[in-house]
Amino acid sequence: MSYAVRFVTFRLISGISAVRGVRDKVIRPGHVVNDSFRFYSGNVLDAYATWPSPDAVVSYGAYGIRGFDGDTVGVGGLAEWYGPHLKIWDKAAKPSTTLWFWNSEIGWATVHPLIESLGWKYVQTIVWNKGIGHIAGNVNGKTISRFPVVSEICVLYQRKAVFRTPDGPLEAQEWLRYEWKLTGLPLSRSNEARGVKNAATWKYLTHDWLWYWPPGEMEVKMAKYATKYGEKSGRPYFPVDGSREITADDRDSLLYEWHHVHGLTTVWSKNLLQGEERVRRGGKSAPRCLSRSQASALRFNQKPLEFMRRIVSASTADGGVIWEPFGGLASASVAAVQLNRYPCVAEINEKFQRAAFDRILDESKKRHQ
Ligand SMILES: C[S@@+](CC[C@H](N)C(=O)[O-])C[C@H]1O[C@@H](n2cnc3c(N)ncnc32)[C@H](O)[C@@H]1O
Repeated sequence: MSYAVRFVTFRLISGISAVRGVRDKVIRPGHVVNDSFRFYSGNVLDAYATWPSPDAVVSYGAYGIRGFDGDTVGVGGLAEWYGPHLKIWDKAAKPSTTLWFWNSEIGWATVHPLIESLGWKYVQTIVWNKGIGHIAGNVNGKTISRFPVVSEICVLYQRKAVFRTPDGPLEAQEWLRYEWKLTGLPLSRSNEARGVKNAATWKYLTHDWLWYWPPGEMEVKMAKYATKYGEKSGRPYFPVDGSREITADDRDSLLYEWHHVHGLTTVWSKNLLQGEERVRRGGKSAPRCLSRSQASALRFNQKPLEFMRRIVSASTADGGVIWEPFGGLASASVAAVQLNRYPCVAEINEKFQRAAFDRILDESKKRHQ
């Protein structure tokens, strides 16, 4: 197969063989690398080592529903399925990398303990409400004995930050309280450190789930105050590397990028894709589907680009590296190209490789026109 891009012409997908152009190179069979994206046609386990460290990983692999060749039949096999990938993501991630894990609610619940054991910390769950049209006419209310499911979820994780202390390793939330206690000052004095009435103790030094990590400049203020008024024996306060007081840069390098959009919540409503965005190339979209007409959607459950843009723009900066290990139609990568990020995507199944590649290529051509 031959593909033309404005700046290069090359052959790829099954048996990628040649590349021409100044800015592109095939680093080994199956890989295409250029200024806009990396695409690997094969098992992503063979590609990870060639990819730059991710700023965000967008995952929608096995759901335990026979959704694609290689998906598990039930959720029982999911932890085993994700294990090798999670181990690699753990090693490849920066302290500021996020993981966006799409799945069914029970699929996610099954894998969650493994995800947390491999360096990630739960942040929040986004619910995709697909609307009543998703099940309309399809439900026998007398026999199913449950509410019809019209949702799937996407769970956001950040890296778990663990700090060494003489009393053993502590995660960020406990570590902040631990450091403050070394001052010998009451918790309420941390408000004075920040120059507020009660925000500091309530949000930054609380035990409960309403806790959030203070921005770097706030933590630095608390450290300076602790040094000035706290016990000398506790110095240096809030030491990221164990030896010196924290700086705002130290602290911010541990935190993931976040670009807030006013009004956007954790429930995202959108019907299953039907219009132009839906990729239709005939064939069966999943092993469990019966339909196989030319008008059949190529993917049973294609993710809306709009959702992918939300994820990519919220959690990465311009030029950020997005990993999409289980490409399907490479929706996160298309969004990444649109937003001037750098996607690294793999797809193992030849049926989807062509469609995924075309989508990314079209998008990158638009950007280079
Ligand atoms: C659930 S689908 C992703 C669909 C995606 N939501 C979309 O919008 O297109 C998962 C995809 O990952 C691919 N896949 C599974 N294991 C893989 C692996 N080890 N390496 C590369 N691709 C893999 C499957 O072939 C399938 O197309």
